[in-house]
Formats: sequence, structure tokens, C-alpha cells
Amino acid sequence: MMRGLLLGVVMTFSAAGAALAAGVDRQDFSQIERGHYLAIVGDCAACHTLPGSGHEMAGGRAIETPFGELMAPNITPDPQTGIGAWTDEEFIDALTKGTGRGVARLYPAMPYTYYTKLTRDDALAIRAYLNTVPAVSNPVQADQLPFPFDMRWTMAVWDQLFFKPGPFHPNANKSAEWNRGAYLAEGLAHCGMCHTPKNVLGGDKTGERLKGYALQGWFAPDITNDPRRGLGGWSVDDVVAYLKTGHNRTGAATGPMSETLNLSTSHMSDPDLKAIAVYLKDQAGPQPDPPPAPDRAMMTTGAKIYADECSSCHTPDGKGIPGLVPALNGSPAVQQVDPTTLLRVVLRGARSVGTAPAPTAAAMPQFGWILTDDQVAAVLTYIRNAWGNAAPPVSAGAVGKARQSFVERSD
Ligand code: HEC
Ligand code: HEC
Ligand code: HEC
Repeated sequence: MMRGLLLGVVMTFSAAGAALAAGVDRQDFSQIERGHYLAIVGDCAACHTLPGSGHEMAGGRAIETPFGELMAPNITPDPQTGIGAWTDEEFIDALTKGTGRGVARLYPAMPYTYYTKLTRDDALAIRAYLNTVPAVSNPVQADQLPFPFDMRWTMAVWDQLFFKPGPFHPNANKSAEWNRGAYLAEGLAHCGMCHTPKNVLGGDKTGERLKGYALQGWFAPDITNDPRRGLGGWSVDDVVAYLKTGHNRTGAATGPMSETLNLSTSHMSDPDLKAIAVYLKDQAGPQPDPPPAPDRAMMTTGAKIYADECSSCHTPDGKGIPGLVPALNGSPAVQQVDPTTLLRVVLRGARSVGTAPAPTAAAMPQFGWILTDDQVAAVLTYIRNAWGNAAPPVSAGAVGKARQSFVERSD
């Protein structure tokens, strides 16, 4: 049934696919199916499909980088404007070595620094799947970067500094499950692209892998097993539930993570999600120094604002309402050193992701127009240090800056 359906699509839309369909056998089909799954794990569509265009993988989405915007190219089988004319070797090299066809180097906005860990088999399966998506003619000019980052050759230098090419090497001292999780999280699923701190040139700080990073006006938190800021307080099942549904006992996903959830992690198999969780829970972070105790007057003001404006939903003890309103008490999201996400959520509100397994999404109201900079600073400092939480205070100046940056950004 599935097979007939898929081949129907292949034959209607894609010349390359039609050729494939003529000679397709069971093994090709299982490779295509596997490639489809792997393309979801790698979240190719997040960048290569323009939302609302209806054209899967046809490119044209602007990808924000620290240096400016890049357009994700067309990777449908169209021979002129897509990658239909590419050989399998060229395709594998693009994914695992960051080389292009006709251009010397790809920019690392394409996650080849992670995809380099892919096995050849998995890369070929992804290619087999891409051969079956409808060919769309859509010329895309990738480079939109300002000088000096518009010079692709500079990327060769960048690669020398920050790119360690090469396949995944399993750790013989760990279980098969752990190794599967490492292969996915450090490779195809490129979790570190958002969660690993970057240096000024956008290279991963490998010594701080998965310790949290601010991007696109959000903060992707520490997802090591750090007890306060990371996943130390979450069980493997909590991590799996979050990646599957966007919710768990304590947390609810918003921002860029909700897109990753919708397009990618919520479609991953339960064993793969568990493998990722087992791997993350084994990433011990060094214990952070406890932050200095916050100003008492600020805490008193914050407690009062919390009681008036927040406690009806988040409850006076900060434990929230399971499945509906996230806990602030003990929440790693609340205790990240960088308060970007908190500022955003409180000033602008948030609606958490609704995924198929958990379709109802509750909303966090906007307080930007109700509370002054001083009041937002006080209530955030309070929730970061009440109930045994501990994190650096938030200043009124930081609130003002965040307000300004949200005015400048449209998303
Ligand atoms: C985070 C965004 C992002 C994700 C995820 C992503 N790509 Fe890309 N990709 C890009 C960008 C941006 C470029 C263009 C880079 C450049 O021009 O230097 C690119 C370039 C490419 C190219 C080279 C195409 C050309 O015409 O030069 C291929 C092939 C490709 N991606 C395949 C994939 C596949 C397959 C996946 C999923 C496994 C994927 N990409 C996931 C952003 C992404
Ligand atoms: C496109 C960027 C992006 C990618 C890719 C991404 N994340 Fe996230 N992630 C975020 C952001 C931003 C948040 C914060 C969301 C929030 O505060 O609601 C987050 C939150 C999380 C959380 C919740 C942590 C907490 O303390 O609340 C977990 C767990 C997580 N991500 C795991 C992963 C894993 C595993 C992967 C790879 C499979 C991944 N993420 C890939 C951006 C990303
Ligand atoms: C009407 C109910 C309601 C009120 C009132 C409310 N919240 Fe929320 N809050 C929510 C919901 C629902 C979410 C989850 C939405 C999401 O993550 O997209 C949330 C999310 C949050 C988060 C993000 C937590 C995380 O794990 O990412 C923070 C921080 C937060 N609220 C703080 C506050 C503060 C501070 C106040 C008072 C100034 C407040 N909230 C008032 C319902 C409420």
C-alpha cells in the first residue's frame, strides 16, 4: 500500500524518480524509506523547504548566520536548478566534507560539520530519498553575505580551524544504545548546532559541547546532565517525552526548538529518542560555581509581582500544572546563565508547540506592556532564585536591551 502510494508520487512528479520507479525493487524501496527517515532526523526540510511554498526541498529559505543571511539551495532532483545532475560522490562530499559543485566550499550554515559523522550507507539512503521528491525548477542564489564573509575561499581557512572531518567512531566502552545516541546527537541530528557555545567566528567551542548557546533571540539551554542548568533533574523518560511531544513533567518547548520538534524529533522512533536521551544523560558537565546571592530588595519586589501576575498559572510554589503550565521551580530553562529566552517569553509571551501526541498547546501571556523594565528584572531575578533556584540576577538594562532588539526583529 505504502509502496504503491510512494511510487505514484515518484512517477507523477520526477523524471529521475520515474526512471527509478521502473526498476525499483524491494531493497531500493527500503533504502528510500530509510533515507526519508534519515532526512527527517537531519531536518533537511527546516532549511531547504520554504514554509508555505508546498515545494519540498526546493530551497529559498533565508538561514540566519552570525555573519548575515544565506539562502538554502534547491536540493530537488531538478538537473538545472537542483542537484539532479550531481553524482552520488559529489552529494556525499557536500554532506560530509562541505564541498560544493562549482563552488569550492560550502558555508557551515549547512551542518556538514555534524553530517561528517554520517556513514556512507546513510548518506546514500538520503540521496535515494531525495531522488524521489518532486523536481522543482527554482534557481536560488545562496550567497547574501556582506564583505568579507562573501568570500567562499575564506571558508577553507575556517574549515582548517574548526572542522574535524571524519566518520563517527563508536566508543567501545559504551553500550550500543549510547553509541547510536552519540551518532545521532553529534552527527545527523546536529543538536550542537544550536546547543553548543560558539566562538566569535561561529566555530563550536568543543570543550563546552552542548552547554547552551544564544541564537535568533532565544537561548538553547545546556542539555548535558548538569544538575542545575542541564538535564540532571530529568529522567531518560522525561527527555524522550520532551523530544517526542514538546512537553514533559516540567518543560514546554517554544521558539526554534518547537520547529525542530515539529519537523524532526517528534517523528523519530522511540528507540532513537531513547538512545539520544541515554547519551545526553551521560554528558556530565563540570559543576558551575554558585552565583552570588541576589539583592534582597529586588527579591521582595519580585516576589510581590510573582504573587500578583504569575502565581495563578505557575502556582505559588512554582511547580506549575503538569502538562499545561511549565514548572519554574527547579527548571533548567529558568536557571540558564543567559536569560535571553526568559526575557523573550515574559516580554512577548509564548505559545508552546502542539505536536500530534500532545495537540493542546497552552499560552503564556505577554507582559511587555504591563510591566516596566525594573519590574521584569525583579520578577525574573525572583524566579531565578526562589525555591532553591540559583542563577545570576537580571538587570533592568538587560530588559531594556531585549525590548529594543525585539522591536528591531520581526520574528
Ligand atoms: C541549518 C540549515 C540546513 C540544514 C538543516 C541542512 N542544510 Fe543543506 N544547506 C544549507 C545552506 C545554507 C546551504 C548553502 C551553503 C552554501 O552555499 O555555502 C546548503 C547546501 C546544501 C547542499 C549543496 C547544494 C548546492 O547547490 O550547492 C546540499 C547537497 C545540501 N545542503 C543537502 C542537505 C541535506 C541532504 C540535508 C539534511 C540531511 C541538509 N542539507 C540540511 C542549510 C542547511
Ligand atoms: C534550531 C536550533 C535547535 C536545534 C537544532 C535543537 N535545539 Fe533543542 N532547543 C533549542 C532552543 C532554542 C531551546 C529552548 C526552548 C525553550 O526554552 O522553550 C531548546 C530546548 C531543548 C531542550 C529542553 C531543555 C530545557 O532545559 O528545557 C532539550 C532537551 C533539547 N532542546 C534537546 C535537543 C536535542 C536532543 C536536539 C537534537 C536532536 C536539539 N535540541 C536540537 C534549539 C534547538
Ligand atoms: C495565564 C497563565 C500564565 C500566566 C499568568 C503566566 N504564565 Fe508563564 N507560562 C504559561 C504557559 C502556558 C507557559 C508555557 C508556554 C510556552 O512555553 O510556550 C509559560 C511559560 C513561562 C516561562 C518559560 C518556561 C520554560 O520552561 O521555558 C517562563 C519563564 C514564565 N512562563 C514566566 C512567567 C512569569 C514571570 C509570569 C508572571 C510575570 C508568568 N509566567 C505568568 C502560563 C502563564
